[in-house]
Amino acid sequence: MKAKARAHANIALIKYWGKADEKLAIPNNSSLSLTLDSFYTETEVEFDENLESDIFYLDDKEDSETLVKVSKFIDLFRKEKGISTKAKITSYNYVPTAAGLASSASAFSALGVACNRALSLNMDDTLLSTFIRKGSGSATRSIYGGLVEWQKGHDDLSSHAIKVDDADFDIGMVIVIVNSEQKELSSREGMKITTETSPFYKEWPNEAEKDLVNIKAAIKKRDFDLIGEITENNAMKMHATMMSSNPSIIYMEPKSLVAINAVKKLRRAGISAYFTMDAGPNVKVLCKLSDAEKIKAELLNDFNEDEVIISKVGSSAHII
Ligand code: DP6
Repeated sequence: MKAKARAHANIALIKYWGKADEKLAIPNNSSLSLTLDSFYTETEVEFDENLESDIFYLDDKEDSETLVKVSKFIDLFRKEKGISTKAKITSYNYVPTAAGLASSASAFSALGVACNRALSLNMDDTLLSTFIRKGSGSATRSIYGGLVEWQKGHDDLSSHAIKVDDADFDIGMVIVIVNSEQKELSSREGMKITTETSPFYKEWPNEAEKDLVNIKAAIKKRDFDLIGEITENNAMKMHATMMSSNPSIIYMEPKSLVAINAVKKLRRAGISAYFTMDAGPNVKVLCKLSDAEKIKAELLNDFNEDEVIISKVGSSAHII
């Protein structure tokens, strides 16, 4: 009744933005991400008959606010097992929490993998990823390492993660922490406002699906520049759609543009570097891992050492 798991964060190259079914967490478009080695969550879950309610510790502090979401998520696993036993959850986030660095992705993925083992449910990764999806959409991709697609599907069982590529080529990311504070508007809220109010949103799922087809072909050919160009363009189309919402959603901050301009400068100097951004001001630079130190050196003109983090490709979520 007890297990501990580690899951890595992932950064989408083709973004998920908007739900077709909020209750089931089925997205309007499929997405594709790179799992990161440097950011992860470790979570232990212990089901205990003596507990009267669930209890959740995040980084050694009791967190009763997040507990609500966590308990609802664990209910899915309890229901599957046919029990109501409460659990103690102890989690450590090796991620700047909620800074748009996909912390909910690694968190729900680690918790899902731990629950699956603790309750001996023996779900395979495909089925488990449909459970994890209901904790947080992007978390469904963190079940695998490398390059991972979340196929939007059309119902509960068909909306799940698949492994696209081990990404065992020269690829990595440089993460620029523009602001590590808790974000003001969650992705959940942000995507709801966008789908409901942006006149341009109706084009987003079509654009994302086209980008997905093209990036998978580029991955197959190992065409790094094409992978990067599609990644950058997809992120900016998502942000343009958000900006056209009413009220407007702007996750960028002045220093995000500083990082973006540094990436463009590197590119003019012949380095293959491409930016992407999520529901926060931080900038992630997709690059060849062999160029990462050069890219970091350029970014250090405007950022501190601890604000620029290099990551190689991360592995699948697993029991530890
Ligand atoms: C911009 O997975 O955090 O990072 O499903 O509501 O929990 P919920 O949203 P979440 O959204 C992630 C949005 C994104 C793009 C992406 O990771 O694909």
